[in-house]
Formats: sequence, structure tokens, C-alpha cells
Amino acid sequence: PTSAVEASKRLAAWTAVDRHILPEHKVIGIGSGSTVPYVVERIVAQGKAVNKDRVFIPTGFQSKELIVNAELLLGDVDQYPVIDVTIDGADEVDHDLNCIKGGGGCHLREKVLAEAADTYVPTIERSAMIMRSTDYSFVLVADYRKNSKVLGTMFKQGIPIEVVPFAYTKILQNLHLLGSPRAVLRMAKAKAGPVVSDNGNFIIDAPFPEEMMQDPYTVRPSPSLPFPPFPLIFPMLTGLGEHTQLLTRIKMLTGVVEVGLFCHMAKAAYFGNQDGSVTIKW
Ligand code: A5P
Repeated sequence: PTSAVEASKRLAAWTAVDRHILPEHKVIGIGSGSTVPYVVERIVAQGKAVNKDRVFIPTGFQSKELIVNAELLLGDVDQYPVIDVTIDGADEVDHDLNCIKGGGGCHLREKVLAEAADTYVPTIERSAMIMRSTDYSFVLVADYRKNSKVLGTMFKQGIPIEVVPFAYTKILQNLHLLGSPRAVLRMAKAKAGPVVSDNGNFIIDAPFPEEMMQDPYTVRPSPSLPFPPFPLIFPMLTGLGEHTQLLTRIKMLTGVVEVGLFCHMAKAAYFGNQDGSVTIKW
């Protein structure tokens, strides 16, 4: 990475911390990757007085080290299942704030911490009506290379998928059938063998064609169906659903632990640009 890229990462991280990590926030989720050190750097700069009452929850080995080395108080999500704000990097973010994560293989814990940063306050009335809130305090920070319209057009290695080792061959086969013929097991660079996640699992990288990545979450009618009644009557013949709900379809494969697609979760995304400006999507 060039120093322009590093400067962009720092700019995004600092801006997001200044806007989202406020004195009243006491439980903070720290993501993984090469942008997050700048997040921690800026939090430390807020001063010892405000940080002494805070606890920081890591998404993996790297962020745990960052928290400990910065002399911040370390906690875990099983002690603090409700997080005020989680800040994390991303591999690519689309126009709708959906993102690909897991380039570093940490997306399982990252998604748990993103979900824990849910500002939903349960009440009797609301819990009867709404099972889940989508009001996450989950903020993304990245350099300009991650700012995209359609996922997969910039981060071409595909969707990272954490899988139970025993099942990986079968899952690869199923992913090929699902529309990703180039899905592969991620191999380690400095040792012979597969990458093993912080949870002892394998990672598969599955690139899907652009039309399947346009909206990986929402159910859409197939574009080849002009008359609404037909897909309802002949769903098998018309192929309804073949290109819908990609996230759900991958997650439903037996042995898949978590999918590196974060849909409708981010509250805002900050991208540092080369000219020193910051693009904010929200
Ligand atoms: C880790 O598994 C990823 O989700 C990272 O958060 C993501 O790869 C962003 O990393 P960078 O900040 O290094 O781009």
C-alpha cells in the first residue's frame, strides 16, 4: 500500500471516531484489518480521562492486541452483549451500505459485534411487533478503493465464507451449483495448508457474477418474468428465486458458519480520499 492509501485510511478512521465515539459511549467494539489501528489511535487521543470508564471489545486476535497495547480496558462480548458503537473496516461497500468483510478472515466475530451494537431498546409493545431491529450503531471506515456501487466489482476474490473444516468440500460443491464456479478454499501464504480462522474454521472465497451481487439481500422478482401470476404458479419453471437472497442461500448451506456479507447493518461508511476529503455514505 502507498502512503496515500494509508493517509486515506487514517482520515476515514479519525473522522468516524470524532463523529461517532462520544463521551457517553462506554462499550465500544473494535474491528479488524489495517484501518482499525487508526481508529484505536484516535480513541487513545481522546484522553485517559474519558477512556478509563470505557471497555473495548475485540473482533479477533489482532484487535485484542491493539486494545491491550494501547492500554485500554479489554472486555468480551459475552460480558457485554450490548455495545454502544462498533467501528470496523470493510473490503468493499456498495451504494446501499451493504459490504463484503472477511478479507482477514474475521467476519464471524465482526458480525457478532456489529449486531451487538444494536440501539434497539426492547419494550413490551415493540417486542411484540418487531423481532429484530435494524438500527445498528455499526460504522465502517475505509480508503477510497473500497467505495463501490456493486459488491464484487472491486474486491474480486469473492465473498469470504467461514466453514466447518469437515464440510468444506461439500460446501464448495454447493457453492459451485449456487453460481460461484470459481469458489476456492483460502490457502495460507506462509505455510502449506488452508487459512484457519480465530475460531478454528476454514475460509472459502466465493466470487459471484455481478447480477447476483447487485442486491445480495432483498428478494427480487426474476427480471425475465413479465406477468406476475406466472412465477407464483410455476416457480420451478420460471426460475423464480434463482438470483435472490444470496446471503440467505449461502448461509443455509450446512456447515457454513458465517458469510462475509453484511447487509443493511452499517449506519454510515467513511472513505478517506486521495485529495484529503472524506466521502460519507449513510
Ligand atoms: C477482516 O476479516 C476484514 O473484515 C477487515 O475488516 C477488512 O478486510 C478491512 O480491512 P482493511 O482495513 O485492512 O482494508
